[in-house]
Amino acid sequence: MTNMEKKRLEELKTLLTRAGYEYYALDNPSMTDAEYDRLLRELRAIEERRPDWITPDSPTQRVGGAVAEQFVKVRHKEALLSLDNAFDAADLREFDRRVRAVAPQARYVVELKIDGLTVALSYEKAALTRGATRGDGVTGEEITGNVRTIRSVPLRLRGGEGEAMPPVDVRGEGFMPKQSFAALNREREEEGQPLFANPRNAAAGSLRQLDSAVTASRKLDFFAYQLLEADRWGVAAQTEVLARLREWGFKVNPEFRLFDDIEAVIDYCLSMEDKRHSFSYDIDGLVVKVDDFAQQRELGFTAKSPRWAIAYKFPAEQAETLLLEIELNVGRTGVLTPTAVLRGVPLAGSVVGRATLHNLDNIRAKDIRVGDHVVIHKAGDVIPEVLRSVPEKRDGTETVFLMPEICPACGGPVTRKENEAAHRCGNVDCPSRQREALIHFVSRDAMNIAGLGPAVLWQLQTEGLVRDAGDLYSLEEERLAGLERLGAKSARNLLDAVEESKKRGLGPLLFALGIRNVGIKAAKTLAAHYGSLESLRRAGAEELQNLPDIGAIMAEGITDFFRDERQLDLIARLERAGVLMAEEKAAPAGTLFAGRTVVVTGTLTRWSRQEAEALIEAHGGKTASAVSKNTSFVLYGDKAGSKLEKARTLGIPLYGEDEFAALLPP
Ligand code: IVH
Repeated sequence: MTNMEKKRLEELKTLLTRAGYEYYALDNPSMTDAEYDRLLRELRAIEERRPDWITPDSPTQRVGGAVAEQFVKVRHKEALLSLDNAFDAADLREFDRRVRAVAPQARYVVELKIDGLTVALSYEKAALTRGATRGDGVTGEEITGNVRTIRSVPLRLRGGEGEAMPPVDVRGEGFMPKQSFAALNREREEEGQPLFANPRNAAAGSLRQLDSAVTASRKLDFFAYQLLEADRWGVAAQTEVLARLREWGFKVNPEFRLFDDIEAVIDYCLSMEDKRHSFSYDIDGLVVKVDDFAQQRELGFTAKSPRWAIAYKFPAEQAETLLLEIELNVGRTGVLTPTAVLRGVPLAGSVVGRATLHNLDNIRAKDIRVGDHVVIHKAGDVIPEVLRSVPEKRDGTETVFLMPEICPACGGPVTRKENEAAHRCGNVDCPSRQREALIHFVSRDAMNIAGLGPAVLWQLQTEGLVRDAGDLYSLEEERLAGLERLGAKSARNLLDAVEESKKRGLGPLLFALGIRNVGIKAAKTLAAHYGSLESLRRAGAEELQNLPDIGAIMAEGITDFFRDERQLDLIARLERAGVLMAEEKAAPAGTLFAGRTVVVTGTLTRWSRQEAEALIEAHGGKTASAVSKNTSFVLYGDKAGSKLEKARTLGIPLYGEDEFAALLPP
């Protein structure tokens, strides 16, 4: 068994590493998410039983969890230089003139200039040993634990050399994709936490986390673009470096282009100005590099930058317009978010008519008044934001914005906690809060109820048919069909979708309930670990924090949630309506336990013994009542006696209930 298990472990590591590479580095997945999760759980279960088998390059070792006291300073092997900037065609021609004086035959590689932060990676014997920030260019900070959580950073280099491989030093850009940035700030706004100004700051903040579990939750990414001591690797040009890095398993930005002359480079740079918003990450320009390394060497360096490269910077994109009024949005946790309603203006690829003002402190600090001319930009290329007002253009009719003392949606009291920027409506019955909670409940990652868009929800709410999520499950077809704009067919479809959602399972349900600070990832972790809402309810804060991705704040959110009478009442109603409160047990017959014989013994809490045996059989396994050398493993509960003893003496693997639950698909 030990041998078999070790083999399976290696097999799982190989499968998962390859799947991760295809998914994160190549953007070309070959495995479904569900399959990946299942294999990862299987690997984790083996590693839980045999911690001595865990290696740093195991795909399970990306979740973070190590908490550092402070960052250790490290000296870079070679200083990280910065680049000279070019702002227009003339600057690029000037650069070309200087290059051609030394290297008349130069060809240029043009790469996107990703707006993140430089990360330096070191590999020894093909394994990642160190990640560091740029720092002052000479010394940076060691952030290996955090870098490991970036999925596109290989933990082990691909290719056959393995142990025999000499040290490799690679540099590239760590960044946060626009979507992750937008989602992170949305969450933070909802929680009343300070927002990140742009993806670069968010990436920098996330990489400089002492708790790597926080970094892991931030969805960072990495593009590699530089290899130190390249001649040692037999590569003689930047384009060859990019190819080699790709072979080793790094994610390399596919947008690079090779040109013979500077006019073509200029055309390309200018054309990218229009395309810049079409990427899923922020770029702030392009980097033009002499391709050939012999020519690079001849050109050499100035004190702070290479003479063989230059950064072409895009002009900052801003627009000026009129702020017509300030609207307040009341979110699901009651946070009041002021939004500027603007006279529409084109900016970075769309017409902007609204922009966030974040909170009252921000409005005050920037002295933004209703009726002002304001300058706007898009944070992270996506979220329109008011940067400043233009006081010179005031005519005296502008008015200072005041935060109302009562909620504009319900008239309830508005309060502000000390240390929080957010104002909140304190009324749990506030229709706006309820509506936002419903929108969240039915959303894709949550209960995924198609056909229940904001407009329909609004209608159901104003008709008095739905107050909270529990009411969705007692909607009546006749009543629905009678509603304006709905009709018989959509009423039927809607009810089907509601019915279907009951089987979504524990993970989506936990996310849907809107427990403070519990995002979709944490919800999945909790579901996989606890298996049922009931056992999660019984978990204490301390126990919760032992799980990957769950910190103190989240644990408090969870325990508070289960102390809230209203939430308990809602859960009871959902349960009565038939909403699944546990992981789907009767999952389609699988092969998870194929070829294995399992003995169940002792008192289990999640299942009766018969249920557990049925589960094993449903997954292709056999069950037996007596332990022998043919037993694959023993699932034991409380007060397990002689069978457990016997299994122990025979060296048969033992699974507690939690370990066993972790093996099962969601
Ligand atoms: S090459 C010595 N290539 O831009 C050459 N830099 O000042 C080193 N950056 O902070 C840089 N994308 O992190 C290079 N494709 C790219 C880049 C890139 C982004 C960043 C780099 C540094 C700044 C250059």
